[in-house]
Amino acid sequence: MNTESPVSRRTALCGIVVALAVPSGFVTACSSSSGSAPTQGSNPTGSTGKPGTALVALADVPEGGGALVDGPGGKKIVVARISAAEVKAYDATCTHQGSTVAEPSGGTITCPSHGSQFGAADGAVKKGPATTGLRAVAVRIDGDQVVLA
Ligand code: FES
Repeated sequence: MNTESPVSRRTALCGIVVALAVPSGFVTACSSSSGSAPTQGSNPTGSTGKPGTALVALADVPEGGGALVDGPGGKKIVVARISAAEVKAYDATCTHQGSTVAEPSGGTITCPSHGSQFGAADGAVKKGPATTGLRAVAVRIDGDQVVLA
């Protein structure tokens, strides 16, 4: 009787190993199929984007305010309209702990998480806890669009 018990345990352990291995095989298979999907998309992934790529219609970026838009690779970019003929843009990732900042308002870009404020004209810190300004993204006005420069 004692000799059957270890065999049963071994069989049970093999069953557990197989049970654990099968779902991970499915996960791997699912990852492989979804990993091939981006090749058919037109958006560049992981790059800073091609100059001339349209970000937003100028009409959607109010003077003194701005807009939060999807940049290349889906990265959020905050676009600020400094004047009728001048726009600035920044990576919308807050330099404090990585939250996405809000649209500019009254010349200030505010992070909703802990209240850091950045100047819309230069991205510099106006109020902490952030200690580093927003990372600039080069943009220009091209006709009725704001595009990557
Ligand atoms: S993450 Fe923006 S202020 Fe903390």
